[in-house]
Amino acid sequence: MQVWTVANQKGGVGKTTTVVSLAGLLAEVGYRVLLIDLDPHGSLTSYFGYDPDELEFSVFDLFEGSNPINAATVHRMLLETSHERLELMPASTALATLERRAVGQEGMGLQIARALVQVKEEYDYVIIDTPPILGVLMVNALAACQHLLVPVQTEFLALKGLERMVRTISMINQARKNKLKYTIIPTFYDRRAHASVTSLRELHNRYSDRISSAIVPVDTELRNASIKGLVPSAVDSSSRGVHAYARILRTLVEAQKQEASV
Ligand SMILES: Nc1ncnc2c1ncn2[C@@H]1O[C@H](COP(=O)(O)OP(=O)(O)OP(=O)(O)O)[C@@H](O)[C@H]1O
Ligand SMILES: [Mg+2]
Repeated sequence: MQVWTVANQKGGVGKTTTVVSLAGLLAEVGYRVLLIDLDPHGSLTSYFGYDPDELEFSVFDLFEGSNPINAATVHRMLLETSHERLELMPASTALATLERRAVGQEGMGLQIARALVQVKEEYDYVIIDTPPILGVLMVNALAACQHLLVPVQTEFLALKGLERMVRTISMINQARKNKLKYTIIPTFYDRRAHASVTSLRELHNRYSDRISSAIVPVDTELRNASIKGLVPSAVDSSSRGVHAYARILRTLVEAQKQEASV
């Protein structure tokens, strides 16, 4: 089971879109995929038609009380999506209360990793969506994953947000045995916009070895898919956005295979 986290401390950079786009493509070719929504806003949960205010069970339960996490705790919170082989561990808005409460509570950073141990035979890929804040939820997501994807909007100030994220990764890596590797995914690229072109050049200058060769363009089809609650590849598999995510996915899977063979 491969676990990927999508994170950036900056909001609105395409995190949730990256999660659903990659997940849809993976499920389409036959992989069993679990999505985890760790954002208290529950955008990913809402994407698939669930109301993060109305759920009986959610990922919040993993942080509640001192109950041990077992397979039943995890299974009862899983929800179906409109796609075969694509399941969701939903967020509830109650997650917002955690950021203050759990900081400093011993062991709270490993709740997601513990939950995933319970279902490791059931999925090929897990993709975790995170809120744009460095707190206990992001720490959980970073601790549970093997690879981190950092979408970065190609615009002015993009690098500022990325610098913060890179500092967070270094901090997390001090506590990890296997250093967390990351891939920067340039998003909202518009080749006619000066800001897009210059910020992409800047990204290449500073992070040449970390940056994805495929770039996600501005594509309204991605937004249309979110309105329909379907993964983008199910709405229009020939759109520019889907093509870009398919290329990104190929490089990620390839890199993962190479890592596994060394
Ligand atoms: N490449 C793109 N082209 C056009 N629209 C996009 C693209 N990527 C994402 N969007 C749209 O931009 C908005 C923000 O994207 P998204 O929700 O994925 O960002 P986010 O980083 O998850 O935001 P937040 O930090 O609030 O969770 C959404 O309406 C989404 O449909
Ligand atoms: Mg989001």
